[in-house]
Amino acid sequence: MFSKLVHRRSLGALYLNLRASLSSAGPAATESTVEEALSSDYVFERESKYGAHNYHPLPVALDRGKGVYVWDVEGRRYFDFLSAYSAVNQGHCHPKIINALKSQAEKLTLTSRAFYNDVLGEYEEYVTKLFNYNKVLPMNTGVEGGETACKLARKWAYTVKGVPKYKAQIIFAAGNFWGRTMSAISSSTDPSSYEGFGPFMPGFKIIPYNDLPALERALQDPNVAAFMVEPIQGEAGVIVPDDGYLTGVRQLCSAHNVLFIADEVQTGLGRTGKMLAVDHENVRPDIVVLGKALSGGVYPVSAVLCDDDVMLTIKPGEHGSTYGGNPLACRVAMASLEVIEEEKLAENARMMGEFLRAELMKTPSDIVTDVRGKGLLNAIVINQTKDCDAWKVCLRLRDNGLLAKPTHGDIIRLAPPLTIKEDEIQECVEIIHKTLLSF
Ligand SMILES: Cc1ncc(COP(=O)(O)O)c(C=O)c1O
Repeated sequence: MFSKLVHRRSLGALYLNLRASLSSAGPAATESTVEEALSSDYVFERESKYGAHNYHPLPVALDRGKGVYVWDVEGRRYFDFLSAYSAVNQGHCHPKIINALKSQAEKLTLTSRAFYNDVLGEYEEYVTKLFNYNKVLPMNTGVEGGETACKLARKWAYTVKGVPKYKAQIIFAAGNFWGRTMSAISSSTDPSSYEGFGPFMPGFKIIPYNDLPALERALQDPNVAAFMVEPIQGEAGVIVPDDGYLTGVRQLCSAHNVLFIADEVQTGLGRTGKMLAVDHENVRPDIVVLGKALSGGVYPVSAVLCDDDVMLTIKPGEHGSTYGGNPLACRVAMASLEVIEEEKLAENARMMGEFLRAELMKTPSDIVTDVRGKGLLNAIVINQTKDCDAWKVCLRLRDNGLLAKPTHGDIIRLAPPLTIKEDEIQECVEIIHKTLLSF
Protein backbone atom coordinates (compact mmCIF):
# COMPACT_ATOMS: atom_id res chain seq x y z
CA MET A 1 0.00 0.00 0.00
CA PHE A 2 1.42 3.38 -0.97
CA SER A 3 0.98 6.43 1.17
CA LYS A 4 -0.78 9.41 -0.40
CA LEU A 5 2.00 11.56 0.89
CA VAL A 6 4.55 9.93 -1.40
CA HIS A 7 5.11 12.50 -4.10
CA ARG A 8 8.30 12.07 -5.97
CA ARG A 9 8.87 12.56 -9.68
CA SER A 10 9.96 8.92 -9.91
CA LEU A 11 6.56 7.76 -8.78
CA GLY A 12 5.28 8.14 -12.33
CA ALA A 13 7.71 5.51 -13.51
CA LEU A 14 6.88 3.41 -10.49
CA TYR A 15 3.21 3.61 -11.39
CA LEU A 16 3.88 2.49 -14.95
CA ASN A 17 5.99 -0.42 -13.72
CA LEU A 18 3.26 -1.39 -11.34
CA ARG A 19 0.65 -1.22 -14.07
CA ALA A 20 2.77 -3.47 -16.24
CA SER A 21 3.24 -5.97 -13.45
CA LEU A 22 -0.40 -5.71 -12.44
CA SER A 23 -1.63 -6.45 -15.92
CA SER A 24 -0.04 -9.89 -15.60
CA ALA A 25 -1.01 -10.26 -11.96
CA GLY A 26 -4.66 -10.89 -12.75
CA PRO A 27 -7.86 -9.36 -11.35
CA ALA A 28 -6.95 -9.85 -7.70
CA ALA A 29 -4.56 -6.88 -7.82
CA THR A 30 -6.78 -3.80 -7.70
CA GLU A 31 -5.79 -0.73 -9.68
CA SER A 32 -7.30 1.59 -7.11
CA THR A 33 -4.50 0.66 -4.73
CA VAL A 34 -2.05 1.98 -7.26
CA GLU A 35 -4.16 4.99 -8.34
CA GLU A 36 -4.05 6.22 -4.75
CA ALA A 37 -0.33 6.74 -5.05
CA LEU A 38 -0.42 9.05 -8.09
CA SER A 39 1.90 11.98 -7.62
CA SER A 40 1.19 15.49 -8.86
CA ASP A 41 4.20 15.31 -11.15
CA TYR A 42 2.93 12.13 -12.71
CA VAL A 43 -0.46 13.73 -13.33
CA PHE A 44 1.18 16.75 -14.99
CA GLU A 45 3.43 14.63 -17.18
CA ARG A 46 0.73 12.22 -18.31
CA GLU A 47 -1.60 15.06 -19.35
CA SER A 48 1.17 16.80 -21.16
CA LYS A 49 2.10 13.64 -23.01
CA TYR A 50 -1.35 12.49 -24.09
CA GLY A 51 -3.53 15.60 -24.03
CA ALA A 52 -3.77 18.58 -26.35
CA HIS A 53 -1.84 21.60 -25.13
CA ASN A 54 -4.76 24.01 -25.32
CA TYR A 55 -4.59 24.94 -21.61
CA HIS A 56 -1.85 26.10 -19.31
CA PRO A 57 -3.07 24.89 -15.90
CA LEU A 58 -1.64 26.01 -12.61
CA PRO A 59 0.47 23.07 -11.42
CA VAL A 60 -1.85 21.45 -8.90
CA ALA A 61 -3.43 18.01 -9.41
CA LEU A 62 -6.80 17.70 -7.70
CA ASP A 63 -8.65 14.54 -6.81
CA ARG A 64 -11.38 15.60 -4.39
CA GLY A 65 -13.66 18.52 -3.62
CA LYS A 66 -16.15 19.36 -0.88
CA GLY A 67 -17.83 22.72 -0.40
CA VAL A 68 -15.25 25.50 -0.63
CA TYR A 69 -12.29 23.08 -0.51
CA VAL A 70 -10.41 20.92 -2.99
CA TRP A 71 -7.61 18.43 -2.24
CA ASP A 72 -4.66 17.43 -4.38
CA VAL A 73 -3.46 13.90 -4.98
CA GLU A 74 -1.00 14.22 -2.11
CA GLY A 75 -3.79 15.18 0.25
CA ARG A 76 -3.09 18.91 0.56
CA ARG A 77 -6.19 21.04 1.05
CA TYR A 78 -6.89 24.32 -0.76
CA PHE A 79 -9.59 26.98 -0.79
CA ASP A 80 -11.00 27.04 -4.32
CA PHE A 81 -11.10 30.68 -5.41
CA LEU A 82 -11.95 29.93 -9.01
CA SER A 83 -14.98 27.65 -8.54
CA ALA A 84 -14.40 26.20 -12.02
CA TYR A 85 -14.96 29.65 -13.54
CA SER A 86 -18.15 30.08 -11.46
CA ALA A 87 -19.67 26.70 -12.30
CA VAL A 88 -19.38 25.53 -8.69
CA ASN A 89 -21.37 28.33 -7.04
CA GLN A 90 -23.12 25.80 -4.79
CA GLY A 91 -19.79 24.36 -3.56
CA HIS A 92 -18.09 21.17 -4.68
CA CYS A 93 -20.17 17.98 -4.68
CA HIS A 94 -23.21 19.56 -3.06
CA PRO A 95 -25.14 16.60 -1.55
CA LYS A 96 -28.53 17.67 -2.89
CA ILE A 97 -27.21 18.02 -6.45
CA ILE A 98 -25.22 14.80 -6.27
CA ASN A 99 -28.27 12.95 -4.94
CA ALA A 100 -30.39 14.29 -7.80
CA LEU A 101 -27.72 13.14 -10.24
CA LYS A 102 -27.45 9.68 -8.70
CA SER A 103 -31.14 8.93 -8.41
CA GLN A 104 -31.96 10.11 -11.94
CA ALA A 105 -28.90 8.31 -13.35
CA GLU A 106 -30.33 5.03 -12.12
CA LYS A 107 -33.68 5.69 -13.78
CA LEU A 108 -33.32 7.42 -17.16
CA THR A 109 -30.45 9.52 -18.49
CA LEU A 110 -31.04 10.32 -22.14
CA THR A 111 -33.93 9.92 -24.53
CA SER A 112 -32.93 12.54 -27.10
CA ARG A 113 -35.64 14.97 -28.11
CA ALA A 114 -36.97 12.45 -30.61
CA PHE A 115 -39.25 11.40 -27.71
CA TYR A 116 -40.76 13.11 -24.69
CA ASN A 117 -39.35 12.46 -21.23
CA ASP A 118 -41.11 12.91 -17.91
CA VAL A 119 -38.67 15.48 -16.45
CA LEU A 120 -38.10 18.06 -19.19
CA GLY A 121 -41.51 19.70 -18.87
CA GLU A 122 -41.20 19.88 -15.08
CA TYR A 123 -37.86 21.63 -15.44
CA GLU A 124 -39.14 23.95 -18.18
CA GLU A 125 -42.05 25.02 -15.99
CA TYR A 126 -39.78 25.50 -12.98
CA VAL A 127 -37.06 27.52 -14.71
CA THR A 128 -39.39 29.75 -16.74
CA LYS A 129 -41.47 30.61 -13.67
CA LEU A 130 -38.33 31.28 -11.64
CA PHE A 131 -36.92 33.74 -14.18
CA ASN A 132 -40.26 35.00 -15.49
CA TYR A 133 -39.89 34.16 -19.19
CA ASN A 134 -42.40 32.33 -21.41
CA LYS A 135 -40.04 29.67 -22.64
CA VAL A 136 -36.66 27.98 -22.23
CA LEU A 137 -34.45 26.23 -24.78
CA PRO A 138 -32.14 23.73 -23.08
CA MET A 139 -28.57 23.19 -24.30
CA ASN A 140 -25.39 21.89 -22.66
CA THR A 141 -22.44 24.28 -22.63
CA GLY A 142 -22.42 28.03 -22.22
CA VAL A 143 -21.14 28.62 -25.72
CA GLU A 144 -24.03 26.61 -27.16
CA GLY A 145 -26.34 28.89 -25.19
CA GLY A 146 -24.68 31.91 -26.84
CA GLU A 147 -24.95 30.31 -30.28
CA THR A 148 -28.62 29.61 -29.63
CA ALA A 149 -29.22 33.23 -28.63
CA CYS A 150 -27.52 34.44 -31.84
CA LYS A 151 -29.58 32.07 -33.98
CA LEU A 152 -32.79 33.19 -32.26
CA ALA A 153 -31.83 36.83 -32.85
CA ARG A 154 -31.17 36.26 -36.56
CA LYS A 155 -34.41 34.29 -37.02
CA TRP A 156 -36.37 36.95 -35.17
CA ALA A 157 -34.76 39.70 -37.28
CA TYR A 158 -35.86 38.03 -40.54
CA THR A 159 -39.28 36.80 -39.52
CA VAL A 160 -40.46 39.51 -37.12
CA LYS A 161 -38.38 42.66 -37.52
CA GLY A 162 -38.22 42.45 -41.32
CA VAL A 163 -34.47 42.63 -41.83
CA PRO A 164 -33.62 41.69 -45.47
CA LYS A 165 -32.48 38.09 -45.88
CA TYR A 166 -29.01 37.47 -44.42
CA LYS A 167 -28.33 41.12 -43.67
CA ALA A 168 -28.79 40.81 -39.90
CA GLN A 169 -26.09 42.24 -37.64
CA ILE A 170 -25.34 41.28 -34.05
CA ILE A 171 -23.38 43.72 -31.92
CA PHE A 172 -20.93 42.63 -29.22
CA ALA A 173 -18.79 44.52 -26.72
CA ALA A 174 -15.00 44.56 -26.95
CA GLY A 175 -13.47 42.29 -24.32
CA ASN A 176 -16.39 39.86 -24.42
CA PHE A 177 -15.86 36.16 -23.84
CA TRP A 178 -18.50 33.60 -24.56
CA GLY A 179 -16.59 30.49 -25.54
CA ARG A 180 -14.50 28.94 -28.26
CA THR A 181 -16.73 28.11 -31.23
CA MET A 182 -16.25 29.84 -34.57
CA SER A 183 -19.06 32.29 -33.77
CA ALA A 184 -17.70 33.08 -30.33
CA ILE A 185 -14.18 33.76 -31.57
CA SER A 186 -15.56 35.78 -34.49
CA SER A 187 -16.88 38.28 -31.97
CA SER A 188 -13.73 38.24 -29.84
CA THR A 189 -11.18 41.05 -29.52
CA ASP A 190 -8.62 38.76 -27.87
CA PRO A 191 -5.98 37.59 -30.39
CA SER A 192 -5.32 34.42 -28.40
CA SER A 193 -8.96 33.50 -29.09
CA TYR A 194 -9.18 34.33 -32.79
CA GLU A 195 -5.67 34.55 -34.26
CA GLY A 196 -5.07 31.80 -36.82
CA PHE A 197 -8.69 30.61 -36.93
CA GLY A 198 -10.26 32.77 -39.65
CA PRO A 199 -12.23 33.25 -41.83
CA PHE A 200 -14.74 34.56 -39.35
CA MET A 201 -18.50 34.70 -39.05
CA PRO A 202 -19.98 37.65 -40.97
CA GLY A 203 -22.66 39.91 -39.54
CA PHE A 204 -20.91 40.62 -36.24
CA LYS A 205 -19.87 44.08 -35.10
CA ILE A 206 -17.85 45.09 -32.06
CA ILE A 207 -18.23 48.29 -30.05
CA PRO A 208 -16.50 49.38 -26.80
CA TYR A 209 -17.91 48.00 -23.54
CA ASN A 210 -19.62 50.34 -21.10
CA ASP A 211 -20.12 52.93 -23.84
CA LEU A 212 -23.76 53.90 -24.41
CA PRO A 213 -23.05 56.54 -27.08
CA ALA A 214 -21.18 53.89 -29.11
CA LEU A 215 -24.16 51.56 -28.76
CA GLU A 216 -26.52 54.31 -29.85
CA ARG A 217 -24.43 54.95 -32.96
CA ALA A 218 -24.30 51.24 -33.82
CA LEU A 219 -28.07 50.94 -33.44
CA GLN A 220 -28.64 53.46 -36.25
CA ASP A 221 -28.17 50.51 -38.62
CA PRO A 222 -31.72 49.19 -39.22
CA ASN A 223 -30.40 45.66 -39.76
CA VAL A 224 -29.22 45.19 -36.20
CA ALA A 225 -30.91 42.16 -34.65
CA ALA A 226 -29.35 42.12 -31.19
CA PHE A 227 -26.76 43.41 -28.75
CA MET A 228 -25.18 40.59 -26.76
CA VAL A 229 -23.36 41.63 -23.59
CA GLU A 230 -22.12 40.36 -20.23
CA PRO A 231 -23.50 42.43 -17.33
CA ILE A 232 -19.98 42.20 -15.86
CA GLN A 233 -17.18 41.01 -18.14
CA GLY A 234 -15.72 37.97 -16.38
CA GLU A 235 -12.88 36.65 -18.53
CA ALA A 236 -11.82 40.17 -19.48
CA GLY A 237 -10.81 40.58 -15.83
CA VAL A 238 -14.03 41.31 -13.93
CA ILE A 239 -14.84 44.60 -15.65
CA VAL A 240 -17.80 46.18 -13.85
CA PRO A 241 -19.64 48.74 -16.02
CA ASP A 242 -20.87 52.09 -14.68
CA ASP A 243 -24.12 52.14 -12.75
CA GLY A 244 -26.89 52.76 -15.26
CA TYR A 245 -25.15 51.01 -18.17
CA LEU A 246 -27.57 48.09 -18.23
CA THR A 247 -30.54 50.42 -17.90
CA GLY A 248 -29.19 52.43 -20.83
CA VAL A 249 -28.69 49.27 -22.89
CA ARG A 250 -32.29 48.28 -22.20
CA GLN A 251 -33.63 51.69 -23.20
CA LEU A 252 -31.57 51.92 -26.39
CA CYS A 253 -32.42 48.38 -27.50
CA SER A 254 -36.12 49.00 -26.92
CA ALA A 255 -36.01 52.33 -28.76
CA HIS A 256 -34.39 50.70 -31.83
CA ASN A 257 -36.34 47.43 -31.82
CA VAL A 258 -33.19 45.42 -31.11
CA LEU A 259 -32.97 42.38 -28.84
CA PHE A 260 -30.95 42.76 -25.64
CA ILE A 261 -29.17 39.44 -25.00
CA ALA A 262 -27.64 39.14 -21.51
CA ASP A 263 -24.87 36.57 -21.31
CA GLU A 264 -25.29 35.55 -17.67
CA VAL A 265 -23.31 32.32 -18.04
CA GLN A 266 -20.70 33.54 -15.55
CA THR A 267 -22.50 36.40 -13.75
CA GLY A 268 -25.82 34.62 -13.24
CA LEU A 269 -27.15 32.33 -10.53
CA GLY A 270 -26.15 34.28 -7.47
CA ARG A 271 -22.53 34.96 -8.33
CA THR A 272 -22.72 38.78 -8.21
CA GLY A 273 -25.05 39.01 -5.22
CA LYS A 274 -28.33 38.78 -7.14
CA MET A 275 -29.93 35.83 -8.92
CA LEU A 276 -29.04 37.54 -12.23
CA ALA A 277 -26.54 40.38 -12.52
CA VAL A 278 -29.10 42.41 -14.51
CA ASP A 279 -31.24 42.38 -11.34
CA HIS A 280 -28.86 44.97 -9.85
CA GLU A 281 -30.51 47.48 -12.20
CA ASN A 282 -33.89 45.75 -12.39
CA VAL A 283 -33.69 45.39 -16.14
CA ARG A 284 -35.26 42.58 -18.12
CA PRO A 285 -33.26 41.44 -21.17
CA ASP A 286 -35.10 39.94 -24.15
CA ILE A 287 -32.89 36.85 -24.03
CA VAL A 288 -30.96 35.48 -21.04
CA VAL A 289 -28.23 32.86 -21.45
CA LEU A 290 -27.40 30.67 -18.43
CA GLY A 291 -24.85 27.88 -17.98
CA LYS A 292 -22.06 26.88 -15.62
CA ALA A 293 -23.70 26.91 -12.14
CA LEU A 294 -26.99 25.76 -13.64
CA SER A 295 -25.64 22.30 -12.84
CA GLY A 296 -23.53 23.16 -9.79
CA GLY A 297 -20.48 21.87 -11.63
CA VAL A 298 -21.55 18.27 -12.04
CA TYR A 299 -22.71 18.16 -15.66
CA PRO A 300 -22.83 20.58 -18.62
CA VAL A 301 -26.23 22.29 -18.61
CA SER A 302 -27.08 25.60 -20.29
CA ALA A 303 -30.33 27.38 -21.04
CA VAL A 304 -31.70 30.20 -23.14
CA LEU A 305 -34.72 32.04 -21.79
CA CYS A 306 -36.98 34.40 -23.73
CA ASP A 307 -40.60 35.10 -24.55
CA ASP A 308 -42.75 33.50 -27.24
CA ASP A 309 -42.32 36.29 -29.80
CA VAL A 310 -38.64 35.38 -30.02
CA MET A 311 -38.54 31.70 -29.05
CA LEU A 312 -41.28 30.53 -31.37
CA THR A 313 -39.49 31.89 -34.43
CA ILE A 314 -37.45 28.67 -34.34
CA LYS A 315 -39.54 25.75 -35.60
CA PRO A 316 -39.15 21.97 -35.19
CA GLY A 317 -35.98 20.69 -36.79
CA GLU A 318 -34.28 24.09 -36.96
CA HIS A 319 -32.15 23.86 -33.81
CA GLY A 320 -31.31 21.41 -31.05
CA SER A 321 -28.81 19.10 -29.43
CA THR A 322 -28.75 15.36 -28.67
CA TYR A 323 -28.13 15.94 -24.98
CA GLY A 324 -30.04 19.20 -24.51
CA GLY A 325 -33.00 18.80 -22.17
CA ASN A 326 -32.15 15.26 -21.11
CA PRO A 327 -33.76 14.05 -17.87
CA LEU A 328 -30.47 13.81 -16.00
CA ALA A 329 -29.57 17.40 -16.87
CA CYS A 330 -33.05 18.63 -15.95
CA ARG A 331 -32.99 16.99 -12.49
CA VAL A 332 -29.51 18.33 -11.84
CA ALA A 333 -30.50 21.83 -12.96
CA MET A 334 -33.60 21.90 -10.75
CA ALA A 335 -31.59 20.75 -7.73
CA SER A 336 -28.89 23.32 -8.48
CA LEU A 337 -31.39 26.17 -8.69
CA GLU A 338 -33.15 25.00 -5.53
CA VAL A 339 -29.87 25.04 -3.63
CA ILE A 340 -29.22 28.64 -4.70
CA GLU A 341 -32.66 29.64 -3.48
CA GLU A 342 -32.86 27.51 -0.31
CA GLU A 343 -29.40 28.47 0.91
CA LYS A 344 -29.84 32.13 -0.08
CA LEU A 345 -26.54 32.01 -1.94
CA ALA A 346 -27.06 35.31 -3.78
CA GLU A 347 -27.53 37.11 -0.46
CA ASN A 348 -24.47 35.38 0.99
CA ALA A 349 -22.45 36.33 -2.11
CA ARG A 350 -23.45 39.96 -1.65
CA MET A 351 -22.43 40.07 2.02
CA MET A 352 -19.26 38.00 1.69
CA GLY A 353 -18.23 39.98 -1.40
CA GLU A 354 -18.50 43.28 0.43
CA PHE A 355 -16.45 41.88 3.29
CA LEU A 356 -13.83 40.39 0.95
CA ARG A 357 -13.34 43.60 -1.04
CA ALA A 358 -13.16 45.74 2.10
CA GLU A 359 -10.41 43.49 3.47
CA LEU A 360 -8.53 43.33 0.16
CA MET A 361 -8.53 47.13 -0.10
CA LYS A 362 -6.23 47.12 2.93
CA THR A 363 -3.42 45.62 0.80
CA PRO A 364 -0.68 48.21 0.15
CA SER A 365 -1.29 49.92 -3.19
CA ASP A 366 2.26 49.35 -4.43
CA ILE A 367 1.37 45.66 -4.68
CA VAL A 368 -2.32 45.71 -5.61
CA THR A 369 -3.40 48.61 -7.80
CA ASP A 370 -7.11 47.78 -7.97
CA VAL A 371 -9.72 45.69 -6.19
CA ARG A 372 -13.03 45.38 -8.00
CA GLY A 373 -16.09 43.21 -8.41
CA LYS A 374 -19.63 42.56 -7.30
CA GLY A 375 -20.78 39.86 -4.94
CA LEU A 376 -18.26 37.04 -5.12
CA LEU A 377 -17.04 37.83 -8.65
CA ASN A 378 -13.93 39.84 -7.85
CA ALA A 379 -10.47 40.62 -9.13
CA ILE A 380 -7.29 42.19 -7.88
CA VAL A 381 -4.83 43.87 -10.22
CA ILE A 382 -1.19 43.18 -9.43
CA ASN A 383 1.44 45.85 -9.88
CA GLN A 384 3.70 43.85 -12.20
CA THR A 385 7.45 43.96 -11.63
CA LYS A 386 10.39 41.82 -12.69
CA ASP A 387 9.87 39.59 -9.64
CA CYS A 388 6.11 39.74 -9.24
CA ASP A 389 3.31 38.99 -11.68
CA ALA A 390 -0.10 37.37 -11.38
CA TRP A 391 1.18 33.90 -12.28
CA LYS A 392 3.88 34.02 -9.61
CA VAL A 393 1.36 35.29 -7.07
CA CYS A 394 -0.99 32.41 -7.93
CA LEU A 395 1.80 29.87 -7.50
CA ARG A 396 2.58 31.25 -4.07
CA LEU A 397 -1.13 31.41 -3.18
CA ARG A 398 -1.26 27.71 -4.04
CA ASP A 399 1.70 27.03 -1.76
CA ASN A 400 -0.20 28.85 0.97
CA GLY A 401 -3.41 26.85 0.41
CA LEU A 402 -5.55 28.92 -1.97
CA LEU A 403 -6.19 28.32 -5.68
CA ALA A 404 -6.83 31.21 -8.05
CA LYS A 405 -6.07 31.76 -11.72
CA PRO A 406 -4.49 34.76 -13.42
CA THR A 407 -6.11 36.40 -16.38
CA HIS A 408 -4.44 38.86 -18.78
CA GLY A 409 -1.05 38.86 -17.04
CA ASP A 410 -1.74 41.14 -14.11
CA ILE A 411 -5.28 40.26 -12.98
CA ILE A 412 -6.27 37.56 -10.49
CA ARG A 413 -9.92 36.58 -10.27
CA LEU A 414 -11.19 35.78 -6.78
CA ALA A 415 -14.43 33.84 -7.02
CA PRO A 416 -14.96 31.23 -4.29
CA PRO A 417 -18.09 29.07 -4.02
CA LEU A 418 -21.03 31.14 -2.79
CA THR A 419 -21.36 28.93 0.28
CA ILE A 420 -18.23 30.43 1.83
CA LYS A 421 -18.59 31.78 5.39
CA GLU A 422 -17.16 34.87 7.05
CA ASP A 423 -14.47 33.07 9.07
CA GLU A 424 -13.36 31.28 5.90
CA ILE A 425 -13.14 34.57 4.00
CA GLN A 426 -11.11 35.94 6.92
CA GLU A 427 -8.71 33.00 6.67
CA CYS A 428 -8.43 33.47 2.90
CA VAL A 429 -7.74 37.18 3.24
CA GLU A 430 -4.91 36.33 5.63
CA ILE A 431 -3.49 33.91 3.03
CA ILE A 432 -3.79 36.52 0.28
CA HIS A 433 -2.19 39.27 2.40
CA LYS A 434 0.62 37.02 3.58
CA THR A 435 1.29 35.96 -0.03
CA LEU A 436 1.25 39.47 -1.47
CA LEU A 437 3.46 40.85 1.27
CA SER A 438 6.01 38.12 0.63
CA PHE A 439 6.91 39.75 -2.72
C1 LIG B 1 -19.73 34.93 -19.97
C2 LIG B 1 -19.46 33.58 -20.56
N1 LIG B 1 -20.26 33.13 -21.54
C3 LIG B 1 -20.07 31.92 -22.09
C4 LIG B 1 -19.03 31.09 -21.67
C5 LIG B 1 -18.83 29.76 -22.34
O1 LIG B 1 -19.20 28.73 -21.49
P1 LIG B 1 -18.69 27.23 -21.80
O2 LIG B 1 -17.24 27.20 -21.51
O3 LIG B 1 -19.52 26.37 -20.89
O4 LIG B 1 -18.99 26.96 -23.24
C6 LIG B 1 -18.19 31.53 -20.66
C7 LIG B 1 -17.07 30.68 -20.18
O5 LIG B 1 -16.22 31.07 -19.45
C8 LIG B 1 -18.41 32.80 -20.07
O6 LIG B 1 -17.62 33.27 -19.11
